[in-house]
Amino acid sequence: MEITLKIQRFNPETDDKPGYQSYRVAAAPEDRILDALMKIQRFIDPSLSFRKSCAHGVCGSDGMRINGKDRLACKTLVKDVLSYLF
Ligand code: FES
Repeated sequence: MEITLKIQRFNPETDDKPGYQSYRVAAAPEDRILDALMKIQRFIDPSLSFRKSCAHGVCGSDGMRINGKDRLACKTLVKDVLSYLF
């Protein structure tokens, strides 16, 4: 299936304020949000930046707001935050 991630972005060198950018990526329900972000960064938009380190829920560096709740991207599955299925 394909999911759409709406990501808040801000470049202090070019932007006056943060804005949202949407990306569509293939993802399985069992994929982690971190996997989807890495797929976007590798194959769609290399300018996308985010923090991560251990990718196993230990370090906390990929803490981010996902669907209005603070979560770790490496511990959050796509199926846990899907707003609706296509
Ligand atoms: S990358 Fe370390 S907790 Fe997610």
